[in-house]
Amino acid sequence: MLLYQDIIKDDNPILRNKSEDVTLPLSDEDIATIEKINEYLVNGYDKEKVEKFGIRPAYGLAAPQIGVFKKIFVILATDETGKTHHYGVINPKIISHSEEKVYLPGGEGCLSVDRNVDGFVHRHKRVKAKVWLYDFIEKTVREEILKLENLMAIIFQHEYDHLFGILFYDHIDKNNPFFIQNNSTGLTFITNDEEK
Ligand code: NI
Repeated sequence: MLLYQDIIKDDNPILRNKSEDVTLPLSDEDIATIEKINEYLVNGYDKEKVEKFGIRPAYGLAAPQIGVFKKIFVILATDETGKTHHYGVINPKIISHSEEKVYLPGGEGCLSVDRNVDGFVHRHKRVKAKVWLYDFIEKTVREEILKLENLMAIIFQHEYDHLFGILFYDHIDKNNPFFIQNNSTGLTFITNDEEK
C-alpha cells in the first residue's frame, strides 16, 4: 500500500523526467501501477485510513510521483455540481482547449510539494483530451474523448503536467505571483479545502 512518504517530493530531480507512452494492451505491471495510485486516492477519502496511515488526501496522483515514468494518472474528485469524477487515465493527449482561463484563488497544492507555494496558476477553463480510460472493474482500457471544465480541467492539466516533468509552481509568475491575466477568472465555488 502506497503511503504519503512513498511519494517523490520535488527536491528529487527525477520528478522532472518525461514519461513515456504506455504500451497497450496494459501489462500486469502497468495495471499494478494504476491500481496502486487509485488505492492511495481512495484511501484519502477514508477517514480511518487517513488517520491511521497519515495519508494526505488528494484529487489526483500521477505515475511519475511514485517513480514510474509512464503516461498514467488517476483523478478522483467532485466537481462544482457535486458530481464525482473518477478517471484512470492512460496516454492522454490534450487536443483542444479554451483561451479562457481559470485559477484557484487559494492556489494549487501537490503531494510532491511539501509546503505552501503562494501564487495563482492560470489554466485553460476547458480542455478536450483524447485518453485511454482505465476501467477499474474490468481492468481494461477504452479510448475516449474527455471534455472537462473548471475544477476538473484544472486537476486534469495539473496531472498532465506531471507527465512532462512540470510542477504547478512553474506556472506562477515569479515577479508577481498573484498577477491575474486578462482572460482568467478565479473559481470561487470551491468549498472543499482538501489538497489537490
Ligand atoms: Ni501534483
